[in-house]
Amino acid sequence: MLSSSSPSAAQPIGGASDLHRLCAAVRSSLPRDRYRHVLGVARTAERLARRYGCSTAAARVAGLLHDISRSWSPQQLLDYAREHGLGVSAAEATAPILLHARVGAHRAQHEFGVTDPHILEAIERHTIPVEGMSDLAKIVYIADSIEPSRTFAEREAAAAAAERSLEEGMTACLEASLRYLNSRGLTPDPATLALYRRLKNGRPDGHEELS
Ligand SMILES: [Fe+2]
Ligand SMILES: [Fe+2]
Repeated sequence: MLSSSSPSAAQPIGGASDLHRLCAAVRSSLPRDRYRHVLGVARTAERLARRYGCSTAAARVAGLLHDISRSWSPQQLLDYAREHGLGVSAAEATAPILLHARVGAHRAQHEFGVTDPHILEAIERHTIPVEGMSDLAKIVYIADSIEPSRTFAEREAAAAAAERSLEEGMTACLEASLRYLNSRGLTPDPATLALYRRLKNGRPDGHEELS
């Protein structure tokens, strides 16, 4: 499923020793706190994958790589996106940190040799979830929100919701995210808002208000 062209992991990745090499490559790319978060996401995603019948190996790899570009500067993200033809939306031009998900997915494919489209989708969609995502992408989105080092007030309730179903977990995590954006006067992506409304109300044009 994986191979890597990075100097620290030049052999195909599959077994335990390969996972150690992937962890080492990720650790060398991230500050300590971010690496701790990434490990938490990988472990949480692996557990949810086991619960919901997804590939635990894919969940682990997606969790490890999802924030591989999270520590890049806005200019680095913009330059990479433009140099690699990823395109930059108006929202991303205004808030380049949003690009870390799409840039991360591109690097996972081209630097770490990830070919599984579900892993790439999970990395790409972990900041802006949309309708129709795979279960693996939902799992990584949820794990990113509820991993143990997260401290937001609704974390335990969101984790409990994720134990009941992926839909309930997504709804709870989206609600917390939208509430956070609302508190900071930020506008959510329309596709993410439509997903939340459909999950909450069963229709994409619902009028559920966040308080
Ligand atoms: Fe992220
Ligand atoms: Fe993250």
